[in-house]
Amino acid sequence: MKIDLLIHSAAQVATCASPDGPKRGAALNDAGLINDGAVAISEGEIVAVGPSAELQAAYTARQTIDAAGKVVCPGFVDPHTHAVYAGDRAAEFELRIKGASYMEIMQAGGGIVSTMKATRAASVAQLVAESRPRLDTMLALGSTTIEIKGGYGLNTTAELNMLKAIAALDADHPADLVPTFLGAHAVPPEYKDDPDGYIALVIDEMLPAAAEWFGNSTFKIQNVDLFCDVFCEANVFDQAQSRRVLEAGLALGMPAKIHADEFVNLGGVDMAVELGAVSADHLDVTPAEEVATLAASNTVGVVLPAVNFNLGSAHFAEARAMADAGAAVALATDINPGSAPCPSMPLVMAMACRYQRLLPAEALNAGTINAAHAVGLGHRLGSLETGKQADVLIINAPDYRHLAYQFGVNLVERVIKRGRAVV
Ligand code: NIG
Ligand code: FE
Repeated sequence: MKIDLLIHSAAQVATCASPDGPKRGAALNDAGLINDGAVAISEGEIVAVGPSAELQAAYTARQTIDAAGKVVCPGFVDPHTHAVYAGDRAAEFELRIKGASYMEIMQAGGGIVSTMKATRAASVAQLVAESRPRLDTMLALGSTTIEIKGGYGLNTTAELNMLKAIAALDADHPADLVPTFLGAHAVPPEYKDDPDGYIALVIDEMLPAAAEWFGNSTFKIQNVDLFCDVFCEANVFDQAQSRRVLEAGLALGMPAKIHADEFVNLGGVDMAVELGAVSADHLDVTPAEEVATLAASNTVGVVLPAVNFNLGSAHFAEARAMADAGAAVALATDINPGSAPCPSMPLVMAMACRYQRLLPAEALNAGTINAAHAVGLGHRLGSLETGKQADVLIINAPDYRHLAYQFGVNLVERVIKRGRAVV
């Protein structure tokens, strides 16, 4: 049979295959390895995965890649980012080194609100121009699918502008993007003394406007969801406010996500599970009872160790305990100008192995198939399986463990998106 591309002779193909949903328990520690493996690709889809000898006999390819001595694995999925924004917060980085905490800076009017000011002042074209190089870097580091949140506009026009910038980037960037509405990311200065008034604005005006925009967007045509997220945290939005936002989003057809337990436990995970959220993210201080609830649910637990590292904290989310309890654990960068200026999924995997005691195969599955499920795309991408989108990486190492073992180096040698070499 004639095909477009055959990648063959790989030291290892790490398929991360999981036909029945995200990986949990023992499956989470199975990278689905095929030694001397091959991947056959046609029309942007994976046609077959298996031993090189078998696939070389079965297919004639217009193009071949000899991956001898290398690892072939799925493109990474980064399921939690704030990659669209204007400006930077290097000055806050310095303040934190001198002793200020992330929350102190936020309560003093910096943090998210400082990025809000720069983002509101930018046009859609400027947001696109500032954000595109970040996406290029993420793609070169292996992220072929990237979720991106709004949340730096904090009014209807500016939040719509963020969504429009995400759509414009999706249209001409090789990575697939997934949009999330995050109007309830912080209370903007004009509602400083009336957070409930701001929640009402989010529910009555911003969410319906976002849903209407989405209905006419290219995401809708591609069957990619618009998610609704909220920052459920002490001194930001409490559980009752967060619930109102997520329920309003659900009523408009927007699946729920939540920023929960980054600093203070407010019961956000229990609520997220009750609402059938697709993911619950951060989970740095989630108590054991809520970890058990998460593990027994279909909600993916997304941990973000680059945040802890960036904030200079020695405390990390208990991803080991979550995995042991049977939760579907995923990893993300959370790239944003404040709590995690980090574009690299491999670095996040490296941190997860060291500080959260995930094994290298668990970290790889957490950054591919489970991350794909965290953005509702696990049926379409995130693993090397017949019928899936051909998003494939060639890694310059003979063993997949090098992805997390080495750090500070980019081992991603080639990025193939929908069957086409893009890096
Ligand atoms: O996921 N925690 C809330 N939101 C982001 C940080 C955003 C920012 O500081 O700009 C996060 O860490
Ligand atoms: Fe975040």
